[in-house]
Amino acid sequence: MAKLIAGLGTSHVPAVGAAMDNGKTQEPYWKPLFDGYEPAREWLRKVDPDVVIVVYNDHANAFSIELTPTFIIGAADQFQPADEGYGPRRVPVVHGHPDLANHIIEHLVLNEFDMTTALNMDVDHGLTVPLSVACGQPEAWPFKVIPLAVNVIKYPQPHGRRCYALGKAIRKAVDSYEEDLKVVIFGTGGMSHQLQGERVGLINKEFDIAFLDDLTADVDRLLKIDHLEYMRDSGSEGIELIMWLIMRGALDENVNEIYRHYHVPASNTAAGLIILENES
Ligand code: DHB
Ligand code: FE
Repeated sequence: MAKLIAGLGTSHVPAVGAAMDNGKTQEPYWKPLFDGYEPAREWLRKVDPDVVIVVYNDHANAFSIELTPTFIIGAADQFQPADEGYGPRRVPVVHGHPDLANHIIEHLVLNEFDMTTALNMDVDHGLTVPLSVACGQPEAWPFKVIPLAVNVIKYPQPHGRRCYALGKAIRKAVDSYEEDLKVVIFGTGGMSHQLQGERVGLINKEFDIAFLDDLTADVDRLLKIDHLEYMRDSGSEGIELIMWLIMRGALDENVNEIYRHYHVPASNTAAGLIILENES
């Protein structure tokens, strides 16, 4: 049977991808951030998953603002890096796992999560930067990817509680897939940041550290954070953190924190990374 063994949370700062693509990771500004990614890459190489479910958001690149799926799963063979206005990132094409993706979609829809299915979907920095963070710069991504895009950019976004419940449903779906596959789930985006308005540049270290702590210590508190609270305490883009709650929901009640890295600033955001492994 397929087995979901671990989760990884990471920010998706586009400038992190650009620093890698342009050979700037050893510059003084970037080096401390990238040094902190190394142990996570080592961990992922060791775990060597067959499939990674990447929970991420599109930034009006694959979908225009005229089309806003709340939750959409990619069930294609391949996903091309999106052109975000300066040409697609020159990173490997993302290979999907249509059979497991369709199994998850079927399970979710029949269990009251009305997912949208994508058979053709480009993937923007929301997905490719987390892959770069977790894998470095390989010739080909070392696992199949199931992209799960969440609307976090346009009101009304789903509540963190609903995201957590979706994670739980995904776990059941993965657990009922017959083939022996090692599966990891990424929750991406965040941490605190605001890219617009009077409070542009807002970063809240206290909020972020408490969020990282409570992924193991007090998930119930995280599930009570509502949209206004995210907005007030973590900036207008901090709500991306609801995607980490899908990752957390897919894991056991009890998880072990294997690694964390937190660095300020990375572009306009606080960049965070955490690895959580199931106890079982
Ligand atoms: C930045 C951060 C993001 O999460 C994003 O999607 C776009 C830009 C930034 O820090 O500049
Ligand atoms: Fe973003």
